[in-house]
Amino acid sequence: MKIFVFETVDKLYDDLASLYINAVRNNPKITLGLATGSTVIPLYERLINDYKSNQTSYKTVKTFNLDEYIGLNYEHQQSYAYFMDNYLFKHIDINRNNINLLNGKCRDINEECLNYDKLLENNPIDIQLLGIGTNGHIAFNEPGTSFDSKTLVVKLTEETLKSNSRFFNNIEEVPKTAITMGLKSIMDCKKVILVATGVKKAQAIKDVISGEISVDIPASILKTHEDVIIYLDKAAASLL
Ligand code: F6R
Repeated sequence: MKIFVFETVDKLYDDLASLYINAVRNNPKITLGLATGSTVIPLYERLINDYKSNQTSYKTVKTFNLDEYIGLNYEHQQSYAYFMDNYLFKHIDINRNNINLLNGKCRDINEECLNYDKLLENNPIDIQLLGIGTNGHIAFNEPGTSFDSKTLVVKLTEETLKSNSRFFNNIEEVPKTAITMGLKSIMDCKKVILVATGVKKAQAIKDVISGEISVDIPASILKTHEDVIIYLDKAAASLL
């Protein structure tokens, strides 16, 4: 596991964006695992700027997203499908057929999970982007999720509901369940990049890096992956 700590948040995202831009330029058919949430927005902004000024093309890039709230459809402004469109997809030349998202409004949720697993099996992810929850979750794999999990339905913890309520009018509006790529699905990705900024993430980062591997801190399993890079700003690294 490599850990990079950056003096400023801007430097972190500039470096991270370069990694992505080079990866896409070197392999135009790359399969990217993408995340949502405030941590990844500055990266997507830089990818859009680069697309506009340097024409880095995403026409043959494939993407898979990590997770989605159950019960929100693509048009709902807090759905992760909407987020991806708004913060990335509609601004670049990606082919819509190459975008893979979990459907929070599907008719058969078990079928949706199995289909996503099959798609992931047939299209191994080259680089998986991750944020981290204050409770150590990655994707929506909350504490206690089995390390063997593939795409699954999860009940969101109080901590996650509270944290994500900042995007909704109130906490009652936050869906209580979600569908998410599992921890095994994430471990199967060839390369994993976890990004954390701000002091609120410092304890989770300390638990991952200095603590034991435990289902209580889902991200701790990443320590057994052979190609993981953790991008931190000084605040997120402050307890290390
Ligand atoms: C989002 C996701 C979550 C977030 C995490 C951090 O697709 O999978 O694990 O990465 O909750 O969220 P932010 O970046 O909003 O702090």
